Amino acid sequence: MELTVNGSTHRVDVEPDTPLLWVLRDTLGMTGTKYGCGVAQCGACTVLIDGQATRSCVTTVDSVAGLAITTIEAIDQDPEGRKVVEAWVANQVPQCGYCQSGQVMAATALLKQTPQPTEDDIAGAMVNLCRCGTYNAISAAVRQAAQA
Ligand code: FES
Ligand code: FES
Repeated sequence: MELTVNGSTHRVDVEPDTPLLWVLRDTLGMTGTKYGCGVAQCGACTVLIDGQATRSCVTTVDSVAGLAITTIEAIDQDPEGRKVVEAWVANQVPQCGYCQSGQVMAATALLKQTPQPTEDDIAGAMVNLCRCGTYNAISAAVRQAAQA
């Protein structure tokens, strides 16, 4: 099947029910999207599907054929994504970093849908887990990105 990832078309020969995360990492070599739990609980695997934050570990690859898939590798080509990354750097959000690509994708999706999010909007959207506890820095960076 054909996948559109970061604006490029990729032809992949995989079983239709293969998780998108596996295809991104193992077939296409895009390892910026992380595997955490594999059961839609942590958000480390978050990518954008037509601009919506989506957990790629539980998304079958056939369900996203023909849709626009965006990963962390191309997030700075997205206007909201670039603001998010700049705010992440300015606030020195990452600690170990493992969850952070998913966090950036979630924040980018939030700002696409709600350019001026309230605290409740941020709390409702930024639900990915961070074992390092960077939640306060994440909230501050999302607020800064919204103001940029
Ligand atoms: S790896 Fe997908 S939600 Fe945890
Ligand atoms: S920065 Fe370490 S898990 Fe989030």
